[in-house]
Amino acid sequence: MLYTMWLLLILLLPLLFLMQKKIKAKQNNTSQLPPGPSKLPIIGNIHQLGSLPHQSLWKLSKRYGDVMLLRLGRLQAIVVSSAEAAEEVLKVHDLDCCSRPPLAGLAKLSYNNHDISFSPYSEHWRQIRKVCVLKLFSIKSVQSFQFVREEEIDSLICFLKDSSTTPVNLSEKMYSLTASVILRTAFGKRFLECGLDNDKFEDIIHRAIAVLGSLTASDLFPYVGWIIDRLTGLHARFERSFHELDDFFCRVIDEHLKRSPKEGKEDIVDLLLCMERSKSDYGDFQFTRDCTKAVLMDIFLAGVDTGAVTLTWAMSELAKNPTVMKKVQNEVRSLKNGKITESDIHQLQYLKMVVKETLRLHPALPLLVPREIMSRFKLANYDVSPKTLIQVNVWAIGRDPKYWQNPEEFFPERFIDSFIDYKGQHFELLPFGAGRRGCPGMYSAMTMVELTLANLLTCFDWKLPDGIRESDIDMEEAAGLTTHKNTALKLVPVTYQWPSKDQI
Ligand code: HEM
Repeated sequence: MLYTMWLLLILLLPLLFLMQKKIKAKQNNTSQLPPGPSKLPIIGNIHQLGSLPHQSLWKLSKRYGDVMLLRLGRLQAIVVSSAEAAEEVLKVHDLDCCSRPPLAGLAKLSYNNHDISFSPYSEHWRQIRKVCVLKLFSIKSVQSFQFVREEEIDSLICFLKDSSTTPVNLSEKMYSLTASVILRTAFGKRFLECGLDNDKFEDIIHRAIAVLGSLTASDLFPYVGWIIDRLTGLHARFERSFHELDDFFCRVIDEHLKRSPKEGKEDIVDLLLCMERSKSDYGDFQFTRDCTKAVLMDIFLAGVDTGAVTLTWAMSELAKNPTVMKKVQNEVRSLKNGKITESDIHQLQYLKMVVKETLRLHPALPLLVPREIMSRFKLANYDVSPKTLIQVNVWAIGRDPKYWQNPEEFFPERFIDSFIDYKGQHFELLPFGAGRRGCPGMYSAMTMVELTLANLLTCFDWKLPDGIRESDIDMEEAAGLTTHKNTALKLVPVTYQWPSKDQI
C-alpha cells in the first residue's frame, strides 16, 4: 500500500510541477504590469540609465507614465515619478515597500545587514532603528552637539575673513565643514587627531559612496556576475573601501574603550558603546560591536555628503539669483548684529523658504535609497510583486509643473502661505523620503544647513570672481549617488561691516 502511494506520488510529481508552472504563467498573463520601455536581451534597460539616472528616468517617465517598469539585468524595477504614486508607495503601502534590496555593496558596507540604512526589513532593523532614533537622532541628542556646530562654523568664518576678497572653493569648504562636524560628534575628534587630512577623508568617503551607488554584475547577472566583478576589479574596490573604514572605526573604538567619557560630553561612539553594554534593556535584541560599526558607517555615509551638497547648491542658487541673496541677507542681518545661533533660526522664515526651495530643485538623494517590495499589491492599478526594486524619483516630482508653477525657477516665495513642508507629509516635496524608512537624521541635517547658511549670509557679501557673470555659474550635476555640482562653486567672501550705532 505504502509502496503504491509512493509510486503514485513519483508519477504525479512532474504533472504537479507542470501545473504549477502553468498557473504561474497564467497569473503573469492576467496581472497587469506597469508600462515601460522595451528591453534588450540580458541587460534589459541598463543602457538607458545614462550617467545621471534620475534625469534619464524623468525623460522616460514623460513617455511611459509615472509608474514605469524597467528590467536591470535580472532585477525588475519600478520607478515612481508622481506625488500621488509616491504617496501610495511611502504611505498607503509603506509596510509593503519598506525593505531594501540585498545588493552586494549595501550588504558589505552594512556589516551584513547590521545597520539602519541598507538592511532589509527585519525585526533586527526595527529594533536598531528604534534605539538609534531615541538615543542618537532625537532633538535632545542633536542639541547636545550644538557647541560642536557653532565652533566649527566659527572657525570657517575666521578662515573666510582671512581670505576675504579672494575666490574660495565653497564646494570644498562645505564638505570639510560637514565632515568636521560629523567627525567631532561621532568620534569626539578633529581631522588631524584622526590621522586624516581633508583630502584623504573625502577620498575615502567618495570611494565608499561609489560602492553604494554601483549595481554590481553579481546583482544584475546570476551565476556569472561574481566572475565579472572579480575581473573588473570591482570586488577588490569594495573590499578596500570596507577595510579602510573598518580599520578606522576599530581604532577609534579601541581608544574610546581605554578612557571614560566626561559626563554630559559623550560623543556618538560613547553612546553606542553604552548601548552595547546595556544589553538587558533591549530584550532579545543584541546590540553588538558590528551594530556599533554599522551605525557609524551610516552616520558617516549618510551625514557628510548630503549636508555639503545641500549647502553648495543653496549658495550656488543664491549667487545666481542676487535679488534672493539680498532679501535673505536683509532678513538675517535685521535680526541682530553678528553671529546667528541655533535659538535664532526659528525667526528666519525667508531663510527657511530658501532652504526648502534648494531641497526641491536639488534633493541630495534624487532617487531616495532603493526599496524592495515585500508583498503583492496594486500600485496605480498595476500589479506589483515581491522582490521588485522600487525607486521614487523625487527630483522629477520636485520639477513637475503639475505641482510647481515655473518649476525650473528658483523662487522661494512660492512657499509663502503654502502648507508644503519637507517632513514626509507632502509628497510633492520629499528630499528626506517618508514613512518607516524616512531619514532619521533630518532634524540634525536641517539644523546644520540652516545655521551654516545664516552665518555665511550675515557675515559676508558674496561676489563672483572677476570676469564671471551670474549666467556663467554652471548648474550641471555630476554623476553619483548624491547630486554633486559638476564644477566647484567659487565665490569671493567680502566681510560685511555692521553699521555703527550712530549710522543706524
Ligand atoms: C540634507 C541632508 C540629508 C538628506 C537630504 C537626507 C536624505 C535621506 C533620504 C532621502 C533617505 C532615504 C529615505 C527613504 O528611503 O525613504 C535617508 C535615509 C537615511 N538618512 Fe538621511 N539625509 C540627510 C542627512 C542625514 C544625516 C545628517 C544623517 C545622520 C547623521 C542621516 C541618516 C540617515 C539614515 C540612517 C537613513 C536610513 C533610514 C532607514 O533606512 O531606515 N541622514 N536620508
